[in-house]
Amino acid sequence: MTRSSAPGKIYLFGEHAVVYGEPAVPCAIERRARVDVERREDSKLRVRAEDLSLDGFTVEYGGGTDGRPDIDVPNELVEAAMGYVDGAIEQVREVTGESEAGFDVTIESDIPLGAGLGSSAAVVVAAIDAATRELGVTLSTDELAERAYQTELDVQEGQASRADTFCSATGGAVRVEGSDCQSITAPDLPLVIGFDGGAGDTGALVAGVRSLRSEYDFAAETVSSIGDIVRRGETALENADVEELGRLMNFTHGLLSALGVSSRSLDSMVWAAREAGAHGAKLTGAGGGGCIVALDPTPETETALRYLPGCEEVFRAEMAEEGVRRLE
Ligand code: MEV
Repeated sequence: MTRSSAPGKIYLFGEHAVVYGEPAVPCAIERRARVDVERREDSKLRVRAEDLSLDGFTVEYGGGTDGRPDIDVPNELVEAAMGYVDGAIEQVREVTGESEAGFDVTIESDIPLGAGLGSSAAVVVAAIDAATRELGVTLSTDELAERAYQTELDVQEGQASRADTFCSATGGAVRVEGSDCQSITAPDLPLVIGFDGGAGDTGALVAGVRSLRSEYDFAAETVSSIGDIVRRGETALENADVEELGRLMNFTHGLLSALGVSSRSLDSMVWAAREAGAHGAKLTGAGGGGCIVALDPTPETETALRYLPGCEEVFRAEMAEEGVRRLE
């Protein structure tokens, strides 16, 4: 049995705009997906997943998403889990040349699915790393990030940036612009995450921004304004200027709202954080529901979010310096 884990992440800046070549700065956080992989004698894939949203289920299938199992969880969650793991295993078969390899895969994650914290990227990175090592191959971090990106690209039908997968593979704060991905230094930030218990459909949200951008000039300008904010954010990170970072996060949230990817619960968590005195707050990830991230060194934002109807979970996030972790 081989086990790897990989962290989730928040976007400090640049989600959605990164899909159009603008820079983005995600930052890995200490919430992890752990994947155990054991080679099977046959070529089947058996997946068992337990996380906040997937209440614990077992899927047994022979590859592909045709033979969907008869189990009591929403179809889209089964498909998400099966699609990403199936895609990850395809990459493993390709890179190792073991096209018939079968596996028992167990996923445990404390990153809510589809909530903007990079759960799918973390599962894919950890699954590829564990399954390749189970076959005796250890990938470099860059190759791992590339294979994980290809998986997301396939599953999300060509709509994915390298940001989530690179950040999950390498850890820390990263700067992504097109295919250029680099680790950057960032100060220890007082990150508070609020989670509304929901999830957005990344593919649909990305497609929505794409159609808005092709129809309205304002949307194309909004996307490049998000890119301008990212560049200013990089300077603020270098200067460890938390107040300016907060201000820029507020601007970003407004622009993402204009692109139609916020929601009532995300807006209300953002406003609760601001009213509690946070330096700034924004949605993180694809939006539509899920998480916000706020900057607040005091306990005020956590308290405000804890009592806010519609906020299901609030926690302080530590930056994860380490990306993929090889456990066994
Ligand atoms: C989703 O976590 C972030 C998006 O920018 C899509 C992507 O970068 O692949 C919305």
